[in-house]
Amino acid sequence: MGEFILNVNGAPLHVSAPPEESLLSVLRNRLNLTGTKYGCGEGQCGACTVLLNGLATRSCMIPAAAAVKAKIVTIEGLEADGKLSAVQQAFLDEGAFQCGYCTSGMILSATSLLSKTPNPSEEQIVTAMNGNVCRCGTHPRIVNAVGRAAHFAAKGGAR
Ligand code: FES
Ligand code: FES
Repeated sequence: MGEFILNVNGAPLHVSAPPEESLLSVLRNRLNLTGTKYGCGEGQCGACTVLLNGLATRSCMIPAAAAVKAKIVTIEGLEADGKLSAVQQAFLDEGAFQCGYCTSGMILSATSLLSKTPNPSEEQIVTAMNGNVCRCGTHPRIVNAVGRAAHFAAKGGAR
């Protein structure tokens, strides 16, 4: 077992886990942050996406111990002071989910995109979201939601 501290959603959290255990497993099974989902476990679906220093990262693909120096943000960390982030609100407004299993990963990927590209074209949105799989076929509404979030943020709405 290794002992280390992870910075998750702004809080230093003590973790006791084997060094090779994935960040996804540590988040879900040791820190009870179950908003991050297990899909394929092979880096192919995006359900497990979190932010590492602002960048969308597949948490199933990296050992948690490798993330000790990173700022980790999960879906639970996006809301602040009772307010949803612009992306979260836009997904709600557009109804951009059905079963919701892919939604956390989608929202984190979109958040990463908009932090680097605040006003993306539709093509840039499609390209950025392409690695996130939605089995319910809500991609058209997801693309609309990301565009809406960009518009909302540009007008000084939620983060
Ligand atoms: S569970 Fe990590 S990419 Fe599918
Ligand atoms: S809403 Fe069901 S997998 Fe995307």
